Amino acid sequence: MEQTFIMIKPDGVQRHLVGDIIKRFEAKGFGLVGLKMVSVSRELAEKHYAVHKERPFFSGLVDFIISSPVIAMVWEGKDVIAAARKLIGATNPLAAEPGTIRGDYGVDLGRNLIHGSDAPETAKQEISLWFTDEELVAWEPSRLTWLYE
Ligand code: RTP
Ligand code: MG
Repeated sequence: MEQTFIMIKPDGVQRHLVGDIIKRFEAKGFGLVGLKMVSVSRELAEKHYAVHKERPFFSGLVDFIISSPVIAMVWEGKDVIAAARKLIGATNPLAAEPGTIRGDYGVDLGRNLIHGSDAPETAKQEISLWFTDEELVAWEPSRLTWLYE
């Protein structure tokens, strides 16, 4: 089963959307294998967004991510990386479809509530950047028979 790294950004936590966001992933049929609240260090935020370090928005993005706690999670399921990006919606919330997290709750590119890994390689990197092996819980879900043929 594929795994992806999902982070509820500071705006999602401050706006009390943690429960709603987690509910959407659970209801879709994905399984939680890791979850923690983190006051992110500048070093971790810079590593997480290292791919954007030459972009003009980089320092503002890092300042935002360290400004208030985030919820870091690992979710598991069939094609979960791409499927999570669909649940999340387009990067700019004004362009994101209604029904997606960003489409339902956001209006600003710099306050788009949630991050999701964009490919298998980045998912692996991000999971190991944010979680130790011991923090990822392997458990036997009873849901599989009712979700997958
Ligand atoms: P994320 O990495 O946070 O899940 O978002 P994403 O893949 O949809 O978008 P990405 O291109 O990776 O951009 C990372 C975050 O940087 C902010 N951003 N600002 N001002 C700008 O032009 C600009 N472009 C991107 C967004 O908050 C985006 O989520
Ligand atoms: Mg991205």
